[in-house]
Amino acid sequence: MSAEELVEVVLPGKVEPEGLRIRHGEVPVAGPGQVLIRMEATGVSFAEQQMRRGRYYDQPAFPFVPGYDLVGTVVDTGAGVEPGLAGVRVAALVKVGGWASHVLVDAADVVPVPDGIGAAQAETLVVNGITAWQMLHRKARVRAGQTILVHGANGGVGSVLVQLARAAGVHVIGTAAARHHDALRAEGVVPVDYRAGDVPARVRELAPGGVDAVFDHIGGRGIVDSWRLLAPGGTLVSYGSASTRDDEGSKQWPVLKLLGRVWLWNALPNGRRAYFYNAWAGHALAKDRFRARLRADLTQVFAALQRGDITARIAAQLPLARVADALRLAESGTVAGKIVLTP
Ligand SMILES: NC(=O)c1ccc[n+]([C@@H]2O[C@H](COP(=O)([O-])OP(=O)(O)OC[C@H]3O[C@@H](n4cnc5c(N)ncnc54)[C@H](OP(=O)(O)O)[C@@H]3O)[C@@H](O)[C@H]2O)c1
Repeated sequence: MSAEELVEVVLPGKVEPEGLRIRHGEVPVAGPGQVLIRMEATGVSFAEQQMRRGRYYDQPAFPFVPGYDLVGTVVDTGAGVEPGLAGVRVAALVKVGGWASHVLVDAADVVPVPDGIGAAQAETLVVNGITAWQMLHRKARVRAGQTILVHGANGGVGSVLVQLARAAGVHVIGTAAARHHDALRAEGVVPVDYRAGDVPARVRELAPGGVDAVFDHIGGRGIVDSWRLLAPGGTLVSYGSASTRDDEGSKQWPVLKLLGRVWLWNALPNGRRAYFYNAWAGHALAKDRFRARLRADLTQVFAALQRGDITARIAAQLPLARVADALRLAESGTVAGKIVLTP
């Protein structure tokens, strides 16, 4: 290991993608309870688009190493860690720090990747798979035969969400730019162009009685349309505020407004439910439960991949050194699936 060096990507402040810096250093050593992962795949999430603008709800102070999740092999185990973990391919959700050749993670936070699943494939399913699975099965609790509306059906989370829903026998209406419609139809999704025409009117034509669930990461004023499209007994899962990425001012306020609306809608007697989904809920206060749930759910998603219920959507694969191009591509509005970064 001593011949290796640490390579990591640093976000120095509010910068264009080209402002990301590559830093070299010494490979760290696993401390008590930790494992050292040699990264094989990490990825670009919407969070990094927000972080480089200083717009992610709870990002650390600049400078820091971004990277929401990673997949790699355990190359060092600290005191108190099962030594058998060495050599195992694992996945980890870290929020920041994943864009590095080597990453220290608490051993309790890693989830083994089953044999037969490649690192890049697995990477498409870490934050995106956990998010999609938990929203679908823990929040909306969808059932076969129901109809749901998925915004951003071509995106990293959206592409996993529509596949898991189809695998559960759910009818899916998905919003996306027209370039993605043929691919969505091939998956059994009814596409709606979010860049042209009146999306709520089109969804009402397709589902006159309303939909059983809406998954909305766009936020802003459109969240009211998402709520109104629900059938009696339906569930709104709000989980982001993509529409306010380029706004100025407080980065927390758009999310707090969504939380307020969700609270109000649930307080009113209207026979529908609303949630704001947060993948990190419970992380600070009930860590053991958080970890058990994450492990169980990601294991289910990997099993769905192994069964062929879903496929890994790798939109592009670039080396870490080309992270600026990867981020530009993620922001180009042309991507289907997940952009994966490799060492
Ligand atoms: N709450 C949580 O715990 C949690 C966890 C993970 C992710 N998220 C949220 O999930 C969302 C998706 O993340 P991701 O990593 O999958 O992103 P992604 O791969 O970049 O996909 C983003 C999707 O959103 C669409 N989109 C972007 N801006 C939009 C806008 N202003 N109006 C309508 N559609 C828009 C994109 O469409 P085009 O391709 O046409 O641009 C694309 O389909 C993000 O908002 C992220 O914050 C939340």
